[in-house]
Formats: sequence, C-alpha cells, structure tokens
Amino acid sequence: PFPHYDRMRESAPVFHDEQSGSWHVFRYDDVQRVLSEHGTFSSKMGGDDPSETGQLFAASLITADPPRHRQLRSLVTQAFTPKAVEALAPRISALTDELLDGIASKGSADLIDELAYPLPVIVIAELMGVPAADRDRFKHWSDVIVSQTQAGPRTADHSSTNREMTEYFLALIEHRRRQPGNDLISNLLMAEIEGQRLSVAELLGFCSLLLVAGNETTTNLIGNAVLSFTEAPGTMERLRAEPALLPQAIEEVLRYRSPVQSMYRVTAADTAVGDVRIPAGAPLVAWIGSANRDERQFRDPGQFDIGRTPNRHLAFGHGIHFCLGAPLARLEARIALQAVLDRFPGLALSPGAHLERMDSTIVYGVKELPVSWTTP
Ligand code: HEM
Repeated sequence: PFPHYDRMRESAPVFHDEQSGSWHVFRYDDVQRVLSEHGTFSSKMGGDDPSETGQLFAASLITADPPRHRQLRSLVTQAFTPKAVEALAPRISALTDELLDGIASKGSADLIDELAYPLPVIVIAELMGVPAADRDRFKHWSDVIVSQTQAGPRTADHSSTNREMTEYFLALIEHRRRQPGNDLISNLLMAEIEGQRLSVAELLGFCSLLLVAGNETTTNLIGNAVLSFTEAPGTMERLRAEPALLPQAIEEVLRYRSPVQSMYRVTAADTAVGDVRIPAGAPLVAWIGSANRDERQFRDPGQFDIGRTPNRHLAFGHGIHFCLGAPLARLEARIALQAVLDRFPGLALSPGAHLERMDSTIVYGVKELPVSWTTP
C-alpha cells in the first residue's frame, strides 16, 4: 500500500471516493486530528450496523463517544497500566519459552504459527479468566471474528461462531458472577457507572473487543518485527549486541509496518479537512499507515531505522481512543523478540520463502513467516 499512500499524500491528501461515498485522509497532521477531535469525528460506527459483528461492538468502548466512552474506559484502565502489565512479564516469558522449546531443535518453523499467533491469544485468555482447557476454541473464535472485519463474503461459519462465542462468554460471565476470581471479567462484573452495573450486552462487548483488538494486532507486530529485522542487513546483530535498543526498534516497526493501517470515523457536523469540505454524517477513513510515512513528519520515512528519534508514530491512535492495550502489546513484543534473538542464532527468512500478505486494508501483516536458524 505504501507507494499508493505516497501518491495520495501528494495528489489527493483528502480524497472523496464517489463510489463508496467515504472520505480518506492521508497526511500526518490530518490523520492525527481526525483520530483525536472526537467532537467532530465520531467513533459511533457500529451502532446502526445491523450485521452481527456490528451488534457485538455496538456496546463497546471503541465505538463510544464521551461521556459514555470515558465511563467505560475508566473501568478497564487499571488492568492495562504499564505497571499492572509489567507484572505479567514473568508469565509472558514462561509462555514464550514454552512455545519456543517446542521448535528450537528443528532449525526452521513458521514463526506466526508457532509464536506470534498463539502468544497474545493465550495472554488475553488468561487475563479474562478463560480456563486453559478452552483455549483452542477461544483461538478459533478470535480468527473467525477477525476474518469478519475483512472484505469478503460472510459464511455460515461466522454466524455459528458468533452464537457459540456469545454463549460461551455468557456462561463465563454467569460463572464469575457466582464465583468471582482475579480476572477482568470478575472485575467488570463488580464495576459500577453512576451506581449502575454494566449490562450483559456491555460485558459481552468488552469481551469481544479485547479478543479482536488485542490478538491479531499483536501477532502482526511480532511478525512484522521479525520481517523487518531479517530484511535490514545487520539489524539482528546490532540488537544482539545492544539489547537496550529493542524497545526503540519495536517503535520503528510500529511506524514502518503499522499493524493497524486505518481507522474509521463518521463526521458529527459539517467540517473541513485541509481545504476540503466534508458534510455531516460522512464516513471517513484515517490512514494511519500513510501518516506514519509522511515526509512532513519523518525524515527519510521509507527508511527502516531502529535508532529513529523522535518517533511520534500514530500506530496506536491518538487522543481519547489511544490504544488501551499498548503497554501490553509492547511488552509481549519485547519479550517474544528478545527470546527469538537469544535463542535463534543466524535467524533468517527461509530460502525461497514466499511471503503472502493478509487480505485486509485494515490490518497489515503476513499470513506465514517461514524462518530458519542454526542449531548446534
Ligand atoms: C484502540 C492499535 C494491541 C485493546 C486502538 C486504536 C489503535 C490500536 C490504532 C485506536 C482506535 C481508534 O482510534 O478508533 C493497536 C495495535 C496493537 C494493539 C497496533 C498491537 C500492536 C492491543 C491490545 C489490546 C488492545 C493487546 C488489549 C488487550 C484496545 C482497545 C482499544 C484500542 C480496548 C479501544 C480504546 C478506546 O476506544 O478507548 N488500538 N492495538 N489493543 N485497543 Fe489496540
């Protein structure tokens, strides 16, 4: 998509697609404004969407405007502060080691399948209090839900999955109501907004949002990082020599290959972006992936530079909807990538590897990542 973004930033930075009726914003300053000016650019998208996915998200944080947004968000911020998340580090390390133990002696593997994909799902499942025995089912639902947000026909599989998953979460919610534990669902059950408990629809909305928002995105961050590190000569060696560079390198991956390329809004009033007038009620796409390569903001934006500072990328959004899970995603990526660097000497893309991108304009990543390394 990147050459397309480059052209659009130059020739049509605020573009009206007559066919779909939507508006597209490509420059850094405009994308930042659209993401954060919530009074003008509303997040209330799913509300009137009759599809099942729309219904699932109708009652959720990511599609709410203030004041409801602030109330819902305040219920979960505690669980996702950098400090709360840091406490998960030992567990994330143990899970990472477990996953890598299974493949270390093989000398080659698909890193998406073996690490980048299972790790975030297991972590979020544990945070939500999903029993280990149900993990595989949980993983399957997460896949199907994400595939619904992408282009393509809905299949019967989607409907039955939604039903199954909703029933599962309802049962889990009821179970936690009777037997609270130290998990997110139990905490949400106790929470009150102005003296009112969350409705079951809101609880379900939270469950599905965490499942979707947190999994595929983190998978792609880890995958895109391995891809970027193996692609730029000397990067792996430099990171092994200077581990303190890893967090900065991850920020550069977030900028250079943003796992979320675009976010949606709808205009709440007549407005203008740049010198283009946009009417109220217009659907609008903020192209994060383009903003992150805007030469007005970044020097040599097409260059992958793990030493880049400052790096004010918009990969996690901006403003009140700034990604709730950013500290968790960063921590998981840091632990997973450090383990890959430590345990897989000589790591490189497998010779002749054919990298296929996921078919989505929203999430950016590869379907498989075949790599090889040297074994003793
Ligand atoms: C919001 C990206 C990981 C939960 C967002 C937004 C972006 C984003 C761009 C802003 C949406 C908007 O402005 O409309 C990412 C990326 C991730 C990641 C690139 C990984 C690399 C996670 C994880 C979780 C999570 C691990 C949870 C465990 C959320 C939630 C919101 C959100 C709940 C909505 C926040 C709100 O509306 O106030 N994310 N995310 N994300 N993210 Fe993430």
